[in-house]
Amino acid sequence: MRHRPVGIGSTIIDIWQWPLDVAADALPGLVAALSDAEFARAARFVRERDRLRFIAGRGHLRAILGAYLAVPAKRLAFDYNAFGKPRLAGAGELPLHFNLSHSAGVAVLAVCDHYQIGIDIEQVAPFKEDLAGTFFSAAERRALRCVPPKAYLDAFYRCWTRKEAFVKAHGAGLSLPLDSFDVSIGATGQPRLLRLDGMPDAPEQWCLLNLATPRGFIGAVAALTAGNAVSLRYRTGEIAVPRRAAMPAPEAAILARNGRPAHQSFAVGN
Ligand SMILES: CC(C)(COP(=O)(O)OP(=O)(O)OC[C@H]1O[C@@H](n2cnc3c(N)ncnc32)[C@H](O)[C@@H]1OP(=O)(O)O)[C@@H](O)C(=O)NCCC(=O)NCCS
Repeated sequence: MRHRPVGIGSTIIDIWQWPLDVAADALPGLVAALSDAEFARAARFVRERDRLRFIAGRGHLRAILGAYLAVPAKRLAFDYNAFGKPRLAGAGELPLHFNLSHSAGVAVLAVCDHYQIGIDIEQVAPFKEDLAGTFFSAAERRALRCVPPKAYLDAFYRCWTRKEAFVKAHGAGLSLPLDSFDVSIGATGQPRLLRLDGMPDAPEQWCLLNLATPRGFIGAVAALTAGNAVSLRYRTGEIAVPRRAAMPAPEAAILARNGRPAHQSFAVGN
C-alpha cells in the first residue's frame, strides 16, 4: 500500500494515550477497524476483560495510524519482525515507526517518521520476587542498591521501563540479553543508555526519554536517533474512532462466545 508523507519531523516523537476499558457504545467502531486476524485473536482471549482491552488497543492503534496516513483504519496491514515487533506492511520509503505498550487498562503509543522506537508503560506495584536479580545487569543492580528504601520501587520501575523500551525499540525482543546493556535509573536528568555490548558508540546513538504517565504508572521511550535531539509531543485527547450504531450480529456472536449473549457482553444490541 502506498502512503502519503507523514510530516512529524526529525525532532518529534508523538505520544498517544488512551484507556483500554471503553464504553460499550464505542466497541462497534473499534471492532470494525480490526483485521480478520486481529478479530480472530480477540475472539481467542478467554477473559472478557482481556478481549475487550485488546480490541480497544488495536482499534485505537489503527484509528491513529490511519489518520496519519489518510488510510481507513481497517485497510492498514501489519507485518512482524522475527521477534514479533509489528510494523506497517509496505510502508516503503515513507516509513511511519510506531510502538505500543499497555498496562492495567492504559495504552500508550509512540509514533514518529524518522527513528526506530520503543515504548513501555508499567503500573507501579510492589512485588516480593528478586526481579532486579533476574532481569537487571550488574551495574543496574549496583545502582539500585544505593537507592533509599522509600525510593526503591520507583527506581526499579524506571529501570524496568527504560530497559523494556530499549528492547522494544531495538527490535530483538527478549532475545537481546538483558545483561548486555545498562540504563540509568535516576529520577533527574535525561535518562541514558549507558552501555550496549559490542557497540561502544551505542550511548551516543540511542536516546531515552521519560514518559509522562497517569499517577501510579511509570514509562519510558527509546529511539535510535543517531545523536539527534528529540522531544515528546503529547497528542492525548485527539483520537477519533468512527462511531458505529451496532456491531454486526455475526461478530457480536463470535466475540460473545463462552455462553454469554452478545447484548450482555457488549450492550450494543443485535
Ligand atoms: C513482547 C515484549 C516486547 C513486550 O511485552 P510487554 O511488556 O508484556 O508488553 P507491552 O504492553 O509493553 O507491549 C506489547 C506490544 O508491543 C508490541 N510488540 C510485540 N512484540 C514486540 C517486539 N518484539 N518488539 C517491540 N514491540 C513488540 C505489540 O504492539 C504489543 O501489543 P499487542 O500485545 O497488543 O500486540 C517483550 O519485551 C516481553 O515479552 N517482555 C516481557 C517482560 C520482561 O521480561 N521485561 C524485562 C524488562 S527488564
